[in-house]
Amino acid sequence: MAQRTVVVIGATGSQGGSVVAELLQHPDQYHVRALTRDPAKPAAQALIDRGVEVHRVDLDSGKGALMAAFDSAHVIYALTDFWQKQSATTEIEQGKSIAEAAAGIATLQHFDETGRYTLRFPHSPTTVLPNVAIADTGKLVHAIIQSGPAYYTKTIAFWAQALSEADKLAELGKCYNILTQYCPVSAREFQEILMSPDGMSTEIALDFTEQLMIFEECGNVYARDEFVQATEVQSSLPCPLKYPMV
Ligand SMILES: NC(=O)c1ccc[n+]([C@@H]2O[C@H](COP(=O)([O-])OP(=O)(O)OC[C@H]3O[C@@H](n4cnc5c(N)ncnc54)[C@H](OP(=O)(O)O)[C@@H]3O)[C@@H](O)[C@H]2O)c1
Repeated sequence: MAQRTVVVIGATGSQGGSVVAELLQHPDQYHVRALTRDPAKPAAQALIDRGVEVHRVDLDSGKGALMAAFDSAHVIYALTDFWQKQSATTEIEQGKSIAEAAAGIATLQHFDETGRYTLRFPHSPTTVLPNVAIADTGKLVHAIIQSGPAYYTKTIAFWAQALSEADKLAELGKCYNILTQYCPVSAREFQEILMSPDGMSTEIALDFTEQLMIFEECGNVYARDEFVQATEVQSSLPCPLKYPMV
């Protein structure tokens, strides 16, 4: 098999360093390119001594610099390090730059030959799932407390919006200016994708797949009359809460 080029962000640190160490054990399979802000630092020099290609780049440098660092990559191991600047804004910007730069790398293996990001999923393009922002859990709990005993013995379906994965993918593509492609696969194929090298165990992959197939076979089971809908709870308050789309 031809060598695949794996670009590792954070290669001088704990997580990325572990990825590099593992891949270096398979030199016939992988060419490793380590990214660092400082190729002169001892950890980077140690990588050079082990035959690793070290490339200087700062995640704050933006899409252009990252595209040069990702050139001809088949795989990118990406991370951001919040603790460097302890700024969520910086970390989000770094993540966007990584995604935008990766979208321009035609050799990446999760992008097809036309440069489209492909999602393989066991639902038809129109099958919807209930979605909610987990960060809104507190809002729902607050609304229930405010409502007195009305909901104490009820089962509340906590979801805000029914969305198909195909539509979500298309939205994300628009948002990040990435070409996307939704590719329905069978439940069996999906389970195998989840298990593929170093993925989930057979049991967890089966369980995860079955949970998704409930919606394919039975529709949006959260929307049943037997449940109180979270949106009803919020609308009973004088000042309704909003559930932003995930
Ligand atoms: N280690 C854990 O157990 C653990 C667990 C959960 C989550 N995490 C999170 O995972 C991330 C990485 O953790 P880690 O333990 O591997 O960190 P680490 O050992 O401190 O290494 C951080 C790595 O990030 C690179 N880096 C930081 N800012 C960069 C920038 N602006 N541009 C390019 N490279 C940059 C550093 O490269 P240079 O300094 O060479 O440029 C370094 O290789 C962190 O966000 C951490 O909070 C870690």
